[in-house]
Order: sequence, then C-alpha cells, then structure tokens
Amino acid sequence: MKLAFAVALAALTLARTALADGLTQDDHQYLQTLLGLTPQSAVLAELSPNEQQALHSAIDELKTYPEGQARQVKRYLALVYGRECKRWAIGHPGQNCSPASDAAVEPGKEISDGICASCHLFGTDGQSFHEMANAKDWNSHKVEHALHHTTGMVPVKLTPEMLDQLAAYINSFKGQ
Ligand code: HEC
Repeated sequence: MKLAFAVALAALTLARTALADGLTQDDHQYLQTLLGLTPQSAVLAELSPNEQQALHSAIDELKTYPEGQARQVKRYLALVYGRECKRWAIGHPGQNCSPASDAAVEPGKEISDGICASCHLFGTDGQSFHEMANAKDWNSHKVEHALHHTTGMVPVKLTPEMLDQLAAYINSFKGQ
C-alpha cells in the first residue's frame, strides 16, 4: 500500500516536472501572461529546484481564485528574487543582484533593485513594471511626476540622470 502510494506520488511528481526547469508549460504560460517572464528571465533561470517546486505550487494551489493566485505568485517571486540577489552578491562582491541581460538598462536596474523592485518588479504593491511599460512610454519627466504625486510611494529624490535610467529600465519590460 505504502509502495503504491510512493509510486503514484513519483509519477505525479514526474508529470509535474516534465520540463527541465521544474515548471510546467502551463506555469510558464501563466508567468508570461501575468508578468512577461520567460524561462530566460533571470528570476526564473536562477531558481533552485526547491524554489521551482514552491513556485509551481504557488501557481497551482489557487487556480480557481485568480486574484489570490496572482497575489500569491507575485509575493513568492518578490521573496525569491531577494534571495537570488543575496546569493549573487555572495559570489560577486560589490554587486547587489545579477546584472540585466541588456547592459544599456543595467544602471536603471541597479537603482530599482535598491529602492523600487520590492514593490514594482512583480507588482506586489502598485503596478508591475511590465504593466507600466505596456501602458505607456516612460521618460524621466513621467517617472519624476509619478514619484512625487503618487500616494503609497516613497517620495525619493533622484537626479535627472537616475530618472532617465529608471525610465529606460521600465520601458525594457514592454511587450515581454
Ligand atoms: C512601497 C512600495 C513602492 C516603492 C518602493 C515604489 N513604489 Fe512606485 N508606486 C507604488 C504605488 C502603491 C503606486 C500607485 C499604484 C500604481 O500606479 O502602481 C506607485 C506608482 C508608481 C508609478 C506610476 C504608475 C502609473 O502608471 O501611473 C511609477 C512610474 C512608479 N511608481 C515608479 C517607481 C519607481 C521608479 C520607484 C523606485 C524609485 C518606485 N516606484 C518605488 C508603490 C511603490
């Protein structure tokens, strides 16, 4: 009896982890639609096997309650991104997180990782950068306006250059 259960569980686990990275095709489809993430996105590429399993569960558990499902998945991604950054920083002194694949947006990513990502990278508080980028083209003026006239955001003072870099980084999430 116990053995049959173990075999069934193993079969189930195999079916769920059919893809090399431990997330199913449905999971990838969901992450792409929700946040524009692809298997190449750093946050997914850097998941450990246990984290892949946890992310799969976060997507799977609340399938019948899409709002709760999205909230749970975004929260888990924000948590795991923080962990990935810590792991990266240990192996790469002086760097906070793994660099952007497009070097042109790295300066904006660095600022964001320090003071914006916890809320906007996955839209855990406010919109995700993916949503913002698909809604409009960002420039330094629009970012500055948002920073100073949106309740719920930390009113940070940034140089024009930093605002430009942030706008370029936000725009890089367009259509992903
Ligand atoms: C504590 C969470 C938090 C942090 C940190 C934060 N924001 Fe926000 N942000 C919000 C909330 C909440 C809103 C209002 C809801 C929305 O539009 O997303 C918002 C709105 C925005 C908007 C306007 C979106 C729109 O379409 O009108 C922009 C742009 C933005 N934030 C950029 C940033 C940038 C850049 C940083 C880092 C310098 C940052 N935010 C840091 C929570 C945060």
